[in-house]
Amino acid sequence: MTDKKVYINGYTTTYIDSGEGIPLLFVHGFLLNRLMWRPQFEGLVDAAHLIAPDLRGHGDAQATPPPYSMNLFADDLNALLEAFEIREKTVLCGLSMGGYTTLAFFRKYASRLAGLILTSTHPGADSPDRRLNRDKAIDTVREKGVTAIVDSMLPKWLAPKAYLEKPDLVAEARSIMERTSVEGVVGALAGMKERPDSTPDLAQIRVPTLIIHGADDQAIPPQEAQKMHVAIAGSKLEIIPNAGHLLNLQQPLLFNALVRRFLTSLS
Ligand code: MLT
Repeated sequence: MTDKKVYINGYTTTYIDSGEGIPLLFVHGFLLNRLMWRPQFEGLVDAAHLIAPDLRGHGDAQATPPPYSMNLFADDLNALLEAFEIREKTVLCGLSMGGYTTLAFFRKYASRLAGLILTSTHPGADSPDRRLNRDKAIDTVREKGVTAIVDSMLPKWLAPKAYLEKPDLVAEARSIMERTSVEGVVGALAGMKERPDSTPDLAQIRVPTLIIHGADDQAIPPQEAQKMHVAIAGSKLEIIPNAGHLLNLQQPLLFNALVRRFLTSLS
């Protein structure tokens, strides 16, 4: 995977891309970056044109002043597709905050979409409690740095078994997460806190949609995926056993097989 750089929408980001065929744009979650998609670049390169950028403030992308609304992230992704002159309809695969962004992209740029893969995510807005927690997390990262946030999130983002038994996976996830800048963490937290409820949009989704969720997700319960499945006509729901929030890293073979089957169903 060779890192490449591109200037879009007022900042420079780093991305990886590989393969040919239908464009498959991966959208990482909060505190993450393009590197979280390593197993997909290893296992799906013959299936699609894979593209994974860092969202602003994450990984090696420049940070801009907060907040980063989900609409702003969606505009950034649209600018990326424009920069690459991609005219073909594209599949977006978003995990967690990447899923919030994917739903914002659907609202703004539905005509660009060939399909959606919504992973470890949900459509709702933040509850009042969650908003207060976002403010606390903003204070924590400003006072104590990114490692303090990583320490509090990481144990909840891998299924307990993997957390205890797979030290290499824990180390990989930690090193990805610690690349996020303080400004990036603040920007994303402030943006997520203000995001609108996407639930009313789900009934408007007309493109094929695959929902993948970990049975042991401690950040977003699988019942949320079930609700999305009911609300998106014709969607397919897959609950992966022994997988937490970062299920594409924890169960890469199963995850890749589901994505491959979905891509095949589009052709
Ligand atoms: C994520 O993984 O992107 C976060 O769990 C999303 C959130 O904090 O709502």
